[in-house]
Amino acid sequence: MESSRAHVLVCAGAACVSSGCREIRDAVVNKVIEQGLQEEVKVIETGCIGSCDLGPLVLIYPEGVLYQKLTPQDAEEIVSEHLLKGRIVERLLYREPVTAKIIPSLKEIDFFKNQVKIVLRNCGAINPQNIDEYIARDGYFALAKSLTAMTREEIIDEVLKSGLRGRGGGGFPTGMKWKFAFQSPGDVKYVVCNADEGDPGAFMDRSVLEGDPHSVIEAMAIAAYAVGAQQGFIYIRAEYPLAIERLVWAIGQAREYKFLGKNILDTGFNFDLDIRIGAGAFVCGEETALMFSIEGKRGEPRPRPPFPVVKGLFNAPTLLNNVETYANIPAIIMNGAAWYAQYGTERSKGTKVFALAGAVNNTGLVEVPMGTPLGDIVFNVGGGIKNKKKYKAAQLGGPSGGCIPIQHLNVPVDYESITELGAIVGSGGLIVADEDTCMVDFARFFLDFIQEESCGKCPPCRIGTKRMLEILKRIAHGEGKLEDIDTLVELATRIKDAALCGLGQTAPNPVLSTLRFFKNEYIEHIVDKHCRAGVCSSLFDAPCQNACPTDQNAWGYVTLISEGKFKEAISLIREANPFPAVLGRVCYHPCENKCRRAQIDQPVAICALKRYAADVDMATFPSFKPYIAKPNNIKVAIIGAGPAGLSAAYFLACKGYKPTVFESLPVAGGMLAVGIPDYRLPREILNAEIKAIADIGVEIKYNTRFGKDITSEDLLADGYRAILLATGAHRGQKLGIPGEEVTGVADGVTFLRSVNLNEIVKVSGKVAVIGGGNVAIDAARAALRLGADEVSVLYRRERDDMPAYTEEIDDAEHEGVRIHTLVAPNKILAKNGKVSGVECTRMSLGKFDNSGRRAPQAIAGSEFIVDADMVISAIGQSPDLSYLKGDGIKITKSNTVEVDRKTLVTSKEGFYAAGDNVRGPASVVEAVADGKNAAMAIDVYLGGDGLAMNAFRDELVKMIVSYDETEYQKERERSEMPHLPLAKRYRNFNEVVLGYQAQAAVEEAKRCLHCYLREEE
Ligand SMILES: Cc1cc2nc3c(=O)[nH]c(=O)nc-3n(C[C@H](O)[C@H](O)[C@H](O)COP(=O)(O)OP(=O)(O)OC[C@H]3O[C@@H](n4cnc5c(N)ncnc54)[C@H](O)[C@@H]3O)c2cc1C
Ligand SMILES: Cc1cc2nc3c(=O)[nH]c(=O)nc-3n(C[C@H](O)[C@H](O)[C@H](O)COP(=O)(O)O)c2cc1C
Ligand code: SF4
Ligand code: SF4
Ligand code: SF4
Ligand code: FES
Repeated sequence: MESSRAHVLVCAGAACVSSGCREIRDAVVNKVIEQGLQEEVKVIETGCIGSCDLGPLVLIYPEGVLYQKLTPQDAEEIVSEHLLKGRIVERLLYREPVTAKIIPSLKEIDFFKNQVKIVLRNCGAINPQNIDEYIARDGYFALAKSLTAMTREEIIDEVLKSGLRGRGGGGFPTGMKWKFAFQSPGDVKYVVCNADEGDPGAFMDRSVLEGDPHSVIEAMAIAAYAVGAQQGFIYIRAEYPLAIERLVWAIGQAREYKFLGKNILDTGFNFDLDIRIGAGAFVCGEETALMFSIEGKRGEPRPRPPFPVVKGLFNAPTLLNNVETYANIPAIIMNGAAWYAQYGTERSKGTKVFALAGAVNNTGLVEVPMGTPLGDIVFNVGGGIKNKKKYKAAQLGGPSGGCIPIQHLNVPVDYESITELGAIVGSGGLIVADEDTCMVDFARFFLDFIQEESCGKCPPCRIGTKRMLEILKRIAHGEGKLEDIDTLVELATRIKDAALCGLGQTAPNPVLSTLRFFKNEYIEHIVDKHCRAGVCSSLFDAPCQNACPTDQNAWGYVTLISEGKFKEAISLIREANPFPAVLGRVCYHPCENKCRRAQIDQPVAICALKRYAADVDMATFPSFKPYIAKPNNIKVAIIGAGPAGLSAAYFLACKGYKPTVFESLPVAGGMLAVGIPDYRLPREILNAEIKAIADIGVEIKYNTRFGKDITSEDLLADGYRAILLATGAHRGQKLGIPGEEVTGVADGVTFLRSVNLNEIVKVSGKVAVIGGGNVAIDAARAALRLGADEVSVLYRRERDDMPAYTEEIDDAEHEGVRIHTLVAPNKILAKNGKVSGVECTRMSLGKFDNSGRRAPQAIAGSEFIVDADMVISAIGQSPDLSYLKGDGIKITKSNTVEVDRKTLVTSKEGFYAAGDNVRGPASVVEAVADGKNAAMAIDVYLGGDGLAMNAFRDELVKMIVSYDETEYQKERERSEMPHLPLAKRYRNFNEVVLGYQAQAAVEEAKRCLHCYLREEE
């Protein structure tokens, strides 16, 4: 590069070209001239910098400042501010997606700083249409070295020793291929570059050719010299016009500079290159099909052997390599095999370029050493999952590949390790899927592609993939059968065995790998007719309802509220849910997580709207009464008056049964009453909903402990025909560290129970809470309200990993609770038999655990002491099932009651179980759902139809709203509920989150997109 005061690199890769980089370049150039800077500032067009979703991009050197998402006006400002006055334009800089931190320098951005660029060494750094810039970065040095200082054997040996393997998908050792081609007898040989790149989403090869075409040209000349060829072909797909244009240009320049043509560099070596344009069929990327296509024949694979190195193009020995494979060669020859082999693993050397796409924050082209753990690519380079969603799988290897689930995030991305997991490194497509991806649909997408691309030559591939696709479509439509899974595996095996080429041999991979790791999702589609990701729309009306564990018709009540029909809304809500005022306050609202409105701005406030309808209902008289079937006098016993037990009782009473709830405590509500504090769930709200349940004929017997005051024999003898165990998970988990028994140490659930039962009314001094879940945060906020001077939460991972609800953590901090992350307790310290503090260790995050989070590891020597007058340990709860001894009911290894997934029946006939004692500590909405499902299963067991109410659905689907929907489909902030001012929360348990006013509720409800209408079409 010529020396100038500043270099302005304008990315002109295909993505930036299509997002308007040319206008940016013109604007910069014009402004530079206008400001008289043309002598000092050089504007250069480069190939892809890598982070295409940030384009159009400009990179300014010597500072290395990256400006993103530019318009021509921004470009002018960059000139007048940055280039003229030396002031960085902050608003145009990159922002870290999660923290929103501004990072000016490209080198400091996670996406770039975690990469090692060998293949992409020049992409985004030079003008691909200027051979001098390539030469200035040692371009064609390797060719000169090869021709003048190395024998052909030495070159091949160097490539062999480097450990480079083919990047086109197969991973065959490149040096070996070169050796075979060299050893193949024949006066005429060819070298071919495979730039067909047919994998959907892959664009590594295109970017190399667009950004650094000379690296491939140089490599092909070296290869030709090594194997004894004089003619080469680059086979490139017609869909890559920019790459073709730059290749044509580069080949012309290389000829001019005598790097191609006759007597190259005056060494007597002749070699020239031609471009052949492919027709775009995926199968033409297969090497034998590709060579037929170059010969002008139909691009269909043929059996191998003979391999191309023996009998290839025009029947002559042919060395065929992929673009990326070639792009490595000049660097290997220049720096030596040992230098290259320092990167990667024992058997997979060097780096690999991936087209990182899907649900990650940073997408684009990335190059990392082979063997980099998958999780590092996804979380360090890719910046983690978008919108704080959960990682589900990474699909590697495109349509021939497979997916890698959360429990394998530590897998090193190298040929062997990835193959062991049923995927392939392939050519480098890496699509990250989050929780919103349906794995059945994912497999269907890839199979659909393969099926379309099958050349049809062999029947197992042509017909078998079609059959597999039909089955997948059936499953996605809810019409699958369990036998379909076996049929899929059988067809897959047959196709793999009988297919002629790689396409058919790998076609079943996406199905097999999703079946390997996500079989439960297939079963859910088939048996439950449920798509947990909310993708297979034939299975539901709208994603919100699909995501609600209680199958709440959320779209229905939201629409009714938008029309001001509050009473109708509550009737609809209560069909599925006897705790709307409770859930409207404490539900973790998975419905909102799947709400389609989030694609425009934020999800509809489905939970808050439920609360609004429920609060209106409570405030009016008469409040809602469900339809009660004719009493049948059949008695059902329910153990535990938590949300699971009370919901079951509610639905059984609606069906005409006579349920009695036996509760050990003097209050009903379970954790709603003795766990969640009043400032989140006021007692009168809970009590009103419990009373509504009692009012329809549910009897609650307090202070009656099952296993002590009553037994199953007593109940059966008393005429109870079925028994539901809904006893929750109330036993606090021990920390297992010294000092736990000291006075002043309590477990979170016991502490909150005492607070809620008014047994503890005052706390003083410093309180340390250990844990990061809801119990920890509730205990911390309760302690603060009860008079603690200082409350600290000690959590062993990072804040984003805390299981507590984000809003609750934010509120806790707002109220003054201090959250210390990456801290774990070693021992509880005591003075005079009373707690005085906690000795802690600082933690760092290491490898990924099965939950997809990085596991904390102690940092040696980092111990420190947190002073405390009280320590609350809130690290988890488990069910206390001691009452089951001798009852013959099976318990799982995780100490929960074993049940049939669908009917919730235990191993003993007539005994059912629901809620936290089945799931472990979970949530209210899941407890309600379990209660409802258990009630329906008990109904069937006792001779009923097991059908829940569904009175409104058909009418609602047809409902036409009276307002102008299009107005509300524009971007529009969601209405947030007001919060009690901080000053009014001091030392009291008044409710913090205040409900909507009518107007706000109606406006919010109008933001609904009525997805069900679309689904119905
Ligand atoms: C502090 C805290 C905060 C939480 N916050 C939220 C939240 O914001 N949102 C959310 O969705 N979930 C939250 N949860 C979880 C939620 O409360 C539980 O998942 C839910 O209450 C479980 O319902 P359940 O009916 O299965 O059990 P529980 O609510 O635990 O009810 C079980 C009942 O059975 C009784 N019982 C136990 N053994 C016997 C026996 N032998 N005989 C008779 N009775 C017995 C218990 O006394 C209790 O009343 C929270 C939990 C806690 C502890
Ligand atoms: C259906 C099918 C499509 C393929 N598509 C490509 C492709 O687009 N690019 C590529 O380099 N290799 C592709 N391959 C692999 C090639 O057949 C060949 O193995 C590769 O180009 C060899 O180069 P390498 O040794 O440098 O990897 C494909 C293989 C199959 C079976
Ligand atoms: S396996 Fe499929 S794509 Fe390959 S040759 Fe046979 S029919 Fe064609
Ligand atoms: S936009 Fe409306 S119908 Fe669609 S998911 Fe959200 S609440 Fe449900
Ligand atoms: S109960 Fe919870 S998940 Fe279900 S619709 Fe209401 S807020 Fe959503
Ligand atoms: S095309 Fe500009 S960053 Fe990729």
